[in-house]
Amino acid sequence: MAEHRTERGNWNSRLGFVLAAAGSAVGLGNIWGFPTQVADNGGASFILIYLICCLVVGLPVMIAEFTIGRHTRRNPVGAFKKLGSGWFPPLIGLWGVMCGVMILSFYLVVAGWTFGYVFEEIFYFAGLTAASEWVADLGNGFKNALFAVLFMAATIAIITGGVSNGIERATKTMMPILIVVLVIMIIYVFTLQGSMDGLRLYLLPDFTAINTNLVFSALGQAFFSLSLGMGALLTYGSYLKKNQNIVESAVYVTLADVGIAFLAGLLIIPAMFVAQYSGITIMGEDGRLFASTTLVFDVLPNLFKSMGGAFGLLFGTSFFILLSMAALTSTISLLEVPVSYIIDEHKVPRKKAAIGVGGVVMIFAIIVALNISLIDVLVTIFNNVGLPLGGLMLCVFLAWFWKSENAMDEIRHGYDNMDQGLFPKIWPFFVTYICPLLIAVVLGTTLYNLLS
Ligand code: TRP
Repeated sequence: MAEHRTERGNWNSRLGFVLAAAGSAVGLGNIWGFPTQVADNGGASFILIYLICCLVVGLPVMIAEFTIGRHTRRNPVGAFKKLGSGWFPPLIGLWGVMCGVMILSFYLVVAGWTFGYVFEEIFYFAGLTAASEWVADLGNGFKNALFAVLFMAATIAIITGGVSNGIERATKTMMPILIVVLVIMIIYVFTLQGSMDGLRLYLLPDFTAINTNLVFSALGQAFFSLSLGMGALLTYGSYLKKNQNIVESAVYVTLADVGIAFLAGLLIIPAMFVAQYSGITIMGEDGRLFASTTLVFDVLPNLFKSMGGAFGLLFGTSFFILLSMAALTSTISLLEVPVSYIIDEHKVPRKKAAIGVGGVVMIFAIIVALNISLIDVLVTIFNNVGLPLGGLMLCVFLAWFWKSENAMDEIRHGYDNMDQGLFPKIWPFFVTYICPLLIAVVLGTTLYNLLS
């Protein structure tokens, strides 16, 4: 069947690509993960180290993914196979596809929680207490599975629409709304009592909090938040036209991701202190802020409820709609990886591939929904180890198999005056030495800590 060639779409516009890639990057990792990590790791000092990780490791790896994708116009498995021979290249791609499937299977459950909370807020403010409590129960396996399946259905529907009609159009609409809602909420929270205490914790660095653990969490967070290490952005790069500047696009995507994470922290950390002001507990016995699940699904809804009336309803529903939208543009990119693999390598039409792969991942997600404790295990194996390992293999492959000069030839398309700038002097050095070395150190330490 030759038609799969014509089925490989393209982004319609430059902005469309940047927004789609930014939509992939911006997700639960930014709005939920980042503020939690900041709260856990001494506030502003974490932000500082995180920024360095994004610039020194994240950005160069992102450029590498876009470049390999656009050059080969393939899914991750096909891409590495095309550029190298032997068993190693396809293995990098397969590892990515597997990480994508596994990450998606728990990401869907958490995304389902956020989606469910839209209804929790509506039910609560409508006075339907029993219904609201039913949705709020994160331990209810049936309900978890139901919302994960709904979320997956939405993801499949968009993916089925293809690259420009489905993914590009959906993210182009959702990203701007997300930023506007976020900014309005921040402004409102700043008018409330207690918010300035949060702002202080968020912006004043405590340098004594910087230790090796913090650096490792920051690097892991950078990988996850920027959607790197498993070929998601490589796949998005494969739909790029030759006249788009890869480096510039990667800079925009990184800035958007870091910027939105920063905004999310600006909302959530002050909001927690506002909540504390109205008598809600936000710290454990050890004086540390509550993390992840408690933070987003307990403290914040309580804050919305304490606002009461129309305001509470408006903020509560907008926040969880926002979080669901951010998650949706990320699940799209996670599913697109195995789907593009099936389309390219097994010549299956897009719709069939999306439904087939989506159906299989849905079964995994149901298993996770019924066994919530699996989430921690999956995060450890596929995020903390899987993504950096993928990133490491990608750098090693690019530098020692494909060669960075060949990558530079690809990047030159759409970047006319590249050779006059600093880029050709810096980037090859980073992908060849700095990034692999740093990732290897992080990975080594993570494994060492896991095993000891
Ligand atoms: N970056 C997204 C977030 O911050 C999650 C995500 C989407 C992702 N696609 C990915 C993470 C690919 C790793 C790899 O929530």
